[in-house]
Amino acid sequence: MSGPSDGIAAHPLPLSARAPGKCILFGEHAVVHGAPELLFAIDLDTQMSVRPAESSSLNGDPAAAVTHPYLRAALERCWTADVPLHVRAVSRIPKAAGLGSSAAFVAALGAVLAAARGGIARSELAQRSFDVERGAQGVGSPGDTSASVAGGYITINSGSADLLWEVSDGLQRWAVRRASDPGWTWVIAYSGIPRSTADAVRAVGTRLAQADGPELLEKFRRVAEAGIRAVASEDRIGTATAMNENHELLVEAGVSHPRLEELIRAAAPAALASKLTGAGAGGSIVTMPVPGKEAECVRRLARAGGLAFAVRPARHGAGLLSSGG
Ligand code: PMV
Repeated sequence: MSGPSDGIAAHPLPLSARAPGKCILFGEHAVVHGAPELLFAIDLDTQMSVRPAESSSLNGDPAAAVTHPYLRAALERCWTADVPLHVRAVSRIPKAAGLGSSAAFVAALGAVLAAARGGIARSELAQRSFDVERGAQGVGSPGDTSASVAGGYITINSGSADLLWEVSDGLQRWAVRRASDPGWTWVIAYSGIPRSTADAVRAVGTRLAQADGPELLEKFRRVAEAGIRAVASEDRIGTATAMNENHELLVEAGVSHPRLEELIRAAAPAALASKLTGAGAGGSIVTMPVPGKEAECVRRLARAGGLAFAVRPARHGAGLLSSGG
């Protein structure tokens, strides 16, 4: 294969690719308005195989090129006037759960389409994946798509070292930086309540436009910076404090949900901290388990009705799997 060394190499179709989901530790929602965020790619991914076909389809559905917003946006932006595609996608990331399933879908598909067109630098794949997700969703930040493209831990709009790339929507720019992995295991629990990211982002935008909005945004900024510093220095207690504070701010912004609060209470005896992760209003929580109590934490969350699992960061971002279709 030939192509950019830190990127996706050129390769003709058929192709397979994978991309990880993500978990936000600090700064969801506020990042849309320019505040810092810390997140990591999770070891759950979406895999995709793509081959040329007589007509386009997704998992056998011929209407998907029109009805599936992310496939449609990807084809419109990255595959204009080209051959129809048969796309098969399977994912271990629960959908509409705050765990980046749409970002993983667009990053994996973006990697395949770019490889078939001569390869792409990772920075450019991050911008393109954001353009596709934003095109389909209408609102949002490049945090999710950058985590899926970068792998590992990343920060958005924080610090001045280790810049990976910048992503822009034409009006606003977000700086994406590599962050260090503290080596901790996290527990995630999906509430089973799906929700729309776009609706939640718009609702928080309305909340932040109120008179005390700038003050609330400043609190988000301060808590995220404290959390980012605590993770960088592998300070569990500092990280736990910032997680709990970040959750309270998200409650104040109106995006928690009674089921999330129940899950947070259920995890408490085995957890140092918990917060909602992602857009909220349903979706998932992330918990920092008491070291040694990871399995108990998962059990408690499962008994409370959550889809609970331990996660570790995925080291690698979106990439080609093989040349097989
Ligand atoms: O719930 P998710 O996976 O769509 O994550 C959304 C994160 C937000 O900050 C709420 C929106 C964004 O695009 O950053």
